[in-house]
Parts: sequence; C-alpha cells; structure tokens
Amino acid sequence: MSVRYVEDKKTFILQTRHCTYQMKISEYDYLLHLYYGERIEDEDLGYLIRPQDRGFSPNPNEAGNDRTFSLDVFPQEFSSDGCSDYRVSSIEVKNGDGSYAFMGKVSGYNIYPGKYRLEGLPSLFATENDTVDTLEIWLRDASTKVTVILCYSVFEEKDIITRAVKVFNGNEKTMYLNRIMSTTIDFMESAFDFVHFDGRHTMERNLTREPISYGVQSIGSTRGASSHQHNPFVILCDHDANEEYGNCYGFSLVYSGNFRCEVEKDQFDQTRIQFGINPKGFSYQLKPNEKFIAPEVVLAYSSQGFTKLSHLYHNVYRENLCRSPRAKEIRPIVINSWEATYFNFDDTKLLNIAREAVDMGVDLFVLDDGWFGKRDDDSSGLGDWNVNTSKLKKGLKGLSDEINQLGLKFGLWIEPEMVSEDSNLYRAHPDWCLSIPKRPATRGRFQLVLDLSRKDVCDYLIKEINQVLDSANIEYIKWDMNRCITEAWSHVVEPDKQGEIYHRYVLGLYYILDHIVLGHPDILFDGCAGGGGRYDPGMLYYHPQIWCSDNTDAVNRLKIQYGTSFVYPISTIESHVSVCPNHQTGRTVSMKTRGVVAMNGIFGFELDSTKMSREEKELCREQSEFYRKHYWLIANGDYYRLTNPFENKEYTAWQHVSKDKTESLASLVLTDKESNAPQLYLKLKGLNDSDFYRIQGDDRIYSGKALMTAGIPVPNLAQYESVQYYLTKVKEA
Ligand code: DGJ
Repeated sequence: MSVRYVEDKKTFILQTRHCTYQMKISEYDYLLHLYYGERIEDEDLGYLIRPQDRGFSPNPNEAGNDRTFSLDVFPQEFSSDGCSDYRVSSIEVKNGDGSYAFMGKVSGYNIYPGKYRLEGLPSLFATENDTVDTLEIWLRDASTKVTVILCYSVFEEKDIITRAVKVFNGNEKTMYLNRIMSTTIDFMESAFDFVHFDGRHTMERNLTREPISYGVQSIGSTRGASSHQHNPFVILCDHDANEEYGNCYGFSLVYSGNFRCEVEKDQFDQTRIQFGINPKGFSYQLKPNEKFIAPEVVLAYSSQGFTKLSHLYHNVYRENLCRSPRAKEIRPIVINSWEATYFNFDDTKLLNIAREAVDMGVDLFVLDDGWFGKRDDDSSGLGDWNVNTSKLKKGLKGLSDEINQLGLKFGLWIEPEMVSEDSNLYRAHPDWCLSIPKRPATRGRFQLVLDLSRKDVCDYLIKEINQVLDSANIEYIKWDMNRCITEAWSHVVEPDKQGEIYHRYVLGLYYILDHIVLGHPDILFDGCAGGGGRYDPGMLYYHPQIWCSDNTDAVNRLKIQYGTSFVYPISTIESHVSVCPNHQTGRTVSMKTRGVVAMNGIFGFELDSTKMSREEKELCREQSEFYRKHYWLIANGDYYRLTNPFENKEYTAWQHVSKDKTESLASLVLTDKESNAPQLYLKLKGLNDSDFYRIQGDDRIYSGKALMTAGIPVPNLAQYESVQYYLTKVKEA
C-alpha cells in the first residue's frame, strides 16, 4: 500500500514511485510535517526536528516546563490559529463563544484503498489502471469540539498526491469559518523560487519567477472566477531549477472561484506554503453538526526540473480529471463564427462561411454569440435563450440541419451565468442577480451576474439550457463567462450567511454543470471566460478543452500557450487560426505560422472563410490534414518546451514526443529577425540517444543523440516564419 502508519514511530508515510511524504504525531498529539520530496525508503525522518528554546515562541500548556516545544517553530501539517503559531494559518474560525481559536490534535485516522470523494466539488478520480490509496486524519479541538479532517489520496504510479480538508462543527453552538486552506506544507528550508502565472485579459499566464523572501508573498483571485490575472497553479523550486534539472513542487487547485496561495518565509528560514479558497469575502456559517468541504489541491514533485513536473500534471489531468467521454476522443477541427461576423450575421452568411470551410478540412461549425433574444451587440439579450428568428429564419434546428447537410457538425455558444438588464429574464426576476439593495449594481460588459447560490435560479437555468441543447442536433457547446463578480450578495440569504455567496456561486455552477454537461455525454463542451479567465482544473473536470485566450495573435500566443503548458495538457488548450492583420494586435503573420502555432493545442479556425483565397484555403486544408494525422502525438505525447519565449527573443520552439519515442514533431517560430544572423541549431529533447530518426522531407538518418546534442541547422527564416520537423524512428542508420 502506498499509505502506511508506523505505529511505534507514529509516522504516516505516503509513497509514490518517486516521492515520499511524511508526517508524525508528536508529543501531545500534534501533527507535524516531516518531509516531502525525492523518495526515501521507509525511515523515520523525525530526527529532522531539533527542539530548541526559541524566545518569544510560546509553548502549549501541556508542555509544562519544556520551552523547546513550540508550534510557532515546528513544521506543521495543518496549523493552529490563535494559539501560538504566528505564521499564516490553515484555518480561522469564530467559535460560538466568540473566541477566534482552533488547536487541533490527532484524534484518529483511517486508511483505505481508492480515492476520497468531495461532495459538490470536482476532484480527480481513479481509473481501473490506477493504484490509489487514501489517508484521512482527524484533528480535533478538545475545547470547541470542532474537527478538521485532512484527506490525502496517493496516485502511486502517477507520482501524484491530492489533498483536501473537511471541517465539522461538533459544538452545540453555531461557528463561522473565516479561512480554510486546503493545503499547508511547512518546508524546513527556504532556498526556493516562487513561480506563478500572471496576466490580464488577452495576455494570460505569463510566467513570473522570484526568490522567496521574509514575510508573505501571495497570489490569488477575488474576482469570483479563477481569473485572467493569476492562475491557481504555482511552483516552488530550487533557485537553479530549469526544464531538466532541480527540485520542483507543483500545487494546482481544483477550484474555479476566488483562491489564494501564500508563501511565507519565517524567522528561522523555513517556508510555509498554503493554497485554498480566498479568505477575502469568505465567512461560512456552520451550525451544530454541519460540515464544510474545501476544494482539492493536486501536488506533484519532480527532482528533474519543470518538464518532468509538467508531464506528471499532463498525464494525470488527461486521464483522471475530465468526466466527459468526449475527452478521450479525437477533437473536431472547428470553425468559429466570432471573429468572422461578431454580432452581425444571418443564416445565409453563416451557411456561406460553413460551406467554404468544408474545403479547409473543418469538422464542425460553431455559432458564437448573437443568435438568441435581442442581441445585436453586447448590451442586451443575455438570459433570453430563445432563438432570434430575424437572424436565423429556420431556427437552430433549421440551421443545424443545413450545416449537417454540408457534412459538418454543429456547435453553439452560450453564456448561462449572466443576464442583461435589457432582457425578459431580468425584467421578470430582477432579484435573480447578485446585487446589494440600495446600491446600483456594477456592470461588466453591460451585464449582471445571476445568483447561482440560489437553487431556484440554477434549476431554471438547467431547464432552459437543456431545452436549447435538445432543440437541434448540437454536438458542441462553447460555455462562456464574460465578467467578474461584484456585489456578491444574494436576495434570499440571511445577513450572517452573505459571506458564503462567492463559494456558493461556484458550488451552484458545478451543480449546473453536473446536470447539463454530465447529462449530455454526447456533446463536447468547450470552456471559456473571455478566453482564459477561468482556465482551471475545476472547469476541466467538465470541459475537456478551454478557449485559451481571446488573443488569437500567433506571436502573443507563443507566450500564452507556453505558460499554460506548465500544468495543463496540450489536449486542453484550444487555439485557432484567425485573420491578419490580427484583430487584437494588428500584426500580420503568415498563414503557415498561424497554423503551426494553432496546432500546438486543439486546432481550429476563427475567421471568415468566404474572404480567403483558394491558396489560403488549400494551405488550411493541408494543415487540417496534417494535424488530424498527428493528433494523438500532439494531444497525448510528452511535451517539451525547447525555449522560453520570455527569455529567448530570437525564436520560440517546442516539441511533442510519442510515449514510445518512435515519433516526434518539433516546431519553431522566428520571432526576432536580425540581418545576416548567425546559424541557428535547434536541439531536440525526449528522444532515445541510441535510436535513429528520419525527418520527413530529408533523406538523411540522424541519431537521437545527434539531434539532441548537436541539433538541426534551422533554415534561414524571415520574421515570423516557421518550420516544423516531423520525425519517425527508423530501424538502423
Ligand atoms: C468572449 C469569448 O472569449 C469570445 O471568443 C466570444 O465568444 C465572445 N465572448 C462572445 O461574446
């Protein structure tokens, strides 16, 4: 079993193939963290803790005269609060007696095969090929009878440990949970860099790397969604870690709402990292015998740098996260109407675009925003999910039938969580949106947010959207969300429960998705929040792919897709070829390069096919065919970032390698051309040294070793031109 309790040493040991996680029940029954890192065979690592008398670090009462036992100093698995640990805390409660204190001691544990479940929240699941064991540890506060249950599941072969926390109010009085972090890890050292992925709308997930320093560094979201600005994924790594080298710890939160990650370097150069729901605006009421479940954090450790870390996440997120049966299938190549028409279309125009797209190798036509209610711009119509027959004369069914007759599948855009003030839904139910009485509701893109903390609102949406999905032959849904939450106040909840609304919104969203997405296993769902504003594992549980960014500029996309690839598999990153000059940046890049960049993800188009030349369409068709042929290599192969576009300005390159290393696709885009430039050599990765490979279109045979150490001389490319190398293993030189 990958989880053990060693009775005589009082240690809990979690083992995966390559890593070890160890905890210990200390004197007086506190739970201390001992180790997380490279695998160490079963050995009590309790010797790492060296008690010392530390000034101004208090001692629990039961330690008597022992001034060396202090929770302010010892590494903990779940920190107490209000009782001697002054570092950022795992929990903050307001008890029924008005006190702000929690001091948990181990009161029991349970080890069982299989994965724990988190009711109402997405989390990883075990497949029949996985060996997964679970440990639950109870930490009970003897004076308040509040109990915290720490949950750990170990995916042994996949080198993944998941964590979650549950809080149970065993007190006879109501309590408030003001902070609950799903994961706390106390490292006994501090020589780490903190890596996180920041950005903004149309420029998401830029890599930021900084050494940790005294005090607290934090990232997070208070926008109601995981956000464009910070992604719920961080890495702690050695200062000299790179793609192939160094210790890296990944933390990925399976949650789509407000989150916070805090890293604290303390007075003794130890590091505490915490990850969970953002405490800002959060206060959850727990009546006697009520329970709160906090979302899951997926932990991965690599002793061999970022590439290995990414592979661990890619493998587990591909196989153990998304519930949709569509996730495992080859994805259709779509053409989306948004950048082709925006709101200005009718069925004739759409059919013309679809007809021309057939020749480009497209499988599916997606009708984006503007097909419903009164929706000629973004100021009205959201909430009225009835077809606009002045634009679509034969309705959705008529249009989808005609699209199907062209040999294409039909997909549709929806934004169920929102309402326009100028809509029948809002006029009928103004109290269905989040807003505070006597305070004018803040608008975002002219729209308001529906109160998904209300079950009646969620049930209404499930009925409405299900009706739309069943009204025509819809095989693909793009689920969008185009503003942040403000005034998170519900019209039907008592004042002392308003601090639950941000979280209850997310639970409501998952409830809706459970009923709509899981109820339509034949539909491929595509996530979107103004592009990548909610690109997180919580959404990937429902949508196997996400529209990575509203920015379709191929050169900007090099950075966006680079950052995204650190944790999210290529099979989740939706990327389209759009028109030039690009609508976001005004840049012009060749059609070939746009295709090369788009096929570093889930490939598709976002343009008016009726305005393309025959040559352009022919190139698109060739790229579609090439992509389809190599889909499994791209989507399921091991991914290698060959350059960092934030550092290497000259060119950006990446590579997909099949698991058995028999084929590979390497791509390069020249991003900063200099005249009379030195010869470039592209050094590949992930091949077998001693195997031989042929590059398509080249008669020579190369050894893996030569390709990886000496490299391939890159032809002389112009600015933004690109080149691809498709390699197959051959028997001998
Ligand atoms: C934002 C999305 O990211 C776009 O692709 C498009 O669907 C618009 N919303 C439609 O309003």
